[in-house]
Amino acid sequence: MAASSSSSSASRLLLTVALVLVLSHGALAHGGSHAGLSSSFYDSSCPSTRDIVRRVIQDARVTDARIPASLIRLHFHDCFVNGCDGSLLLDDDASSGIRTEKKVPGNNRSARGFTVVDDIKRALEKACPGIISCADILALAAEISVELAGGPSWSVPLGRRDGTKTNIESANDLPSPFDSLKILQEKFKKLGLDNTDLVALQGAHTFGRAQCQFTQQNCTAGQKRGSLVNLDVVTPDVFDNKYYGILLKGRAQLPSDQVMMSDPVAAATTAPIVRRFSGSQKDLFKNFAASMVKMGNISPLTGRDGEIRKSCRRVNKKPYY
Ligand code: HEM
Ligand SMILES: *[C@@H]1O[C@H](CO)[C@@H](O)[C@H](O)[C@H]1NC(C)=O
Ligand SMILES: *[C@@H]1O[C@H](CO)[C@@H](O)[C@H](O)[C@H]1NC(C)=O
Repeated sequence: MAASSSSSSASRLLLTVALVLVLSHGALAHGGSHAGLSSSFYDSSCPSTRDIVRRVIQDARVTDARIPASLIRLHFHDCFVNGCDGSLLLDDDASSGIRTEKKVPGNNRSARGFTVVDDIKRALEKACPGIISCADILALAAEISVELAGGPSWSVPLGRRDGTKTNIESANDLPSPFDSLKILQEKFKKLGLDNTDLVALQGAHTFGRAQCQFTQQNCTAGQKRGSLVNLDVVTPDVFDNKYYGILLKGRAQLPSDQVMMSDPVAAATTAPIVRRFSGSQKDLFKNFAASMVKMGNISPLTGRDGEIRKSCRRVNKKPYY
């Protein structure tokens, strides 16, 4: 009697475990938060990965203070197009049928830092040939860049593989500085990112530069088109929460920043979050790190999908595991 009851509760337990596994696997297939990545992915295959990426970025920022900002933006523009698969890094190549994403309006004469990614890849290939994907390089570079600029650090889920195609149509649809708040919210929501993610991630405009024709001022100080302005006018190269204080004063550089306060739908959605982050850098840092992990989990290629590129600019000619 006791034995039969315990064996039936044991089989119920088994059934529950099996069900949970099936359900959670289904959720992962639809871009769940774990996405099959692991922060210890290269611990045995290439333990020096993070140190190597960090050293190359450190070297690069000595001559170009903007590099950390440029690198995190590459991860964003990679993940928003086809998921975080390194597609943004591919150059035009007719023989592989590749049309580069680098020339769409959101990237043309704007996305930068590609030679630093090349330097990172070269250093990693020397230390651990054929192991670290270009998609993971962007994810790691983003985290290291934030940390070097004084922002939060977080453990970066790794194990992404590189895609073998680009997606021009999707790249043409990257968020624009002239999008309304509603459009921005839709573009983020499509990728599983909510209002808190939107407000936290735009906090990356705490560093880096913008060309004046994209700003609220639109070059009216008499500069030439393409002239650079600091995205954060208070602390241009520091990752902090000052950006949100500037938003509260209506002085953000990009229209797409300011809509988070000024748009008719902002009061009920993004504005309270802007105030929260302006009031607490600790709160911002915690949320920024969580949102970066979420963004980095957008549809990665894992397992035997994709490849580990030898050069981030080109797909491999033959499968390369
Ligand atoms: C909400 C949608 C977003 C829009 C519309 C937007 C738009 C822009 C624009 C127009 C620029 C200036 C580009 C130029 O003048 O060449 C810029 C720069 C930048 N963006 Fe965003 N952005 C968005 C979200 C993000 C996110 C999610 C991140 C990272 C997590 C990010 C990080 C950056 C950084 C760091 C820069 C400066 C890059 C540099 O100096 O090279 N942005 N963004
Ligand atoms: C990229 O920008 C340059 C300068 O604005 C322009 O001449 C060129 O046509 C653009 N390329 C594409 C593909 O739009
Ligand atoms: C910025 O100014 C230029 C030149 O006056 C104009 O053609 C352009 O439409 C303006 N941009 C915006 C977004 O208003």
